[in-house]
Amino acid sequence: MLQHRYNARMKKLALLGGLTPEAFLKDYWHKKPLLIRQAIPGFAAPLTRDEVFALAARDDVESRLVTQNAGKWKLASGPFAELPQVTRRNWSLLVQGVNLHDARADDLLGQFRFLPDARLDDLMISYASDGGGVGAHFDSYDVFLLQAHGKRRWRIGRQSDLSLQEGLPLKIVKHFEPEENYLLEPGDMLYLPPQYAHDGVAEGECMTYSIGFRAPAWQELAENFLQFMADTVDLPGRYADPGLAPTSRPAEIPAQMLDQVTQALQRIRFERDDISLFLGEYLSSPKPQVFFDAPDSLMPAHRFSQAARKRGVALSPRSRMLYAGQRVFINGESFDTGTADRKALRLLANQRRLSGEDVAQASDDVLDALHNWYCDGWLLLN
Ligand code: SIN
Ligand code: CO
Repeated sequence: MLQHRYNARMKKLALLGGLTPEAFLKDYWHKKPLLIRQAIPGFAAPLTRDEVFALAARDDVESRLVTQNAGKWKLASGPFAELPQVTRRNWSLLVQGVNLHDARADDLLGQFRFLPDARLDDLMISYASDGGGVGAHFDSYDVFLLQAHGKRRWRIGRQSDLSLQEGLPLKIVKHFEPEENYLLEPGDMLYLPPQYAHDGVAEGECMTYSIGFRAPAWQELAENFLQFMADTVDLPGRYADPGLAPTSRPAEIPAQMLDQVTQALQRIRFERDDISLFLGEYLSSPKPQVFFDAPDSLMPAHRFSQAARKRGVALSPRSRMLYAGQRVFINGESFDTGTADRKALRLLANQRRLSGEDVAQASDDVLDALHNWYCDGWLLLN
């Protein structure tokens, strides 16, 4: 269940090799790799190979196929109606965002909610035939690599030389300098900080689950923030030059015009509160390929309220819900909340579900919002 560990930061977790989330974050996060044998003891891949292949055939699922032939790398983007034979060596299929489509994958991602949802990205599943992998590379993000099926050998290194091989469809480092070598079996997990080079090669067919993070680049944030500002900016008035003098250089932009425009545009201000609104809406926005499935037959508001009070509700795995201060964000929309409603909505955001009793205590406004979200497929009845 998604909620069951989010408040466990002081508890020692097998998932972290017996460390508390606090100790893990202090000593390893962004700093050094951690190999955890049997992070999930007796782990058996919840999705079969065929289920992963079926996801890769869907156009609302992001997938990539990496093949290696006589030392030549090839990369293709899904959807894939057909894949190479599993008996053929040296290929790998990567399926992104599996948590959005599969409750078991979503549950698994929930075990990592000692980290903020604003940082947690998705669960990627990679299938590799014998010898398959994506080459020695580094990522800009932290990653947990959980071995789900079969064996994969990881060679990892701190790598000071980050130059890449030229002319390849994949980012592969030129001079890989591995320092450690680990064979991972089902249930074993390897944490890697950003920029740490790694190369995982399947020994026999295997599946690896990557728990990925999101760390937006400043440039990405800036571009999106300016877009947000463009939609909300309010700058009254207009350029005027009552003291205009005649010119003999009509093509020249008048210096006083430049001054006036500079002054006017410097009146555009933004505060932490504007940034909070932007950030919440931005981080809670679904990715472009995400669509919500509305229920087949919609219950009217009063019937929905009755059912929700009895059964409780849960966010769809595709919903992103965050909050900051009095604002609640869901799937790119923001709501200002009063004290009473804030409690129920924060509970929903943190637990990703509300029990029937929780719903029974909620105001009519909250029930209205829940009903709207249910109609949009953002929230489901338990
Ligand atoms: C893989 O599972 O093959 C790639 C995952 C990664 O290197 O981040
Ligand atoms: Co990687």
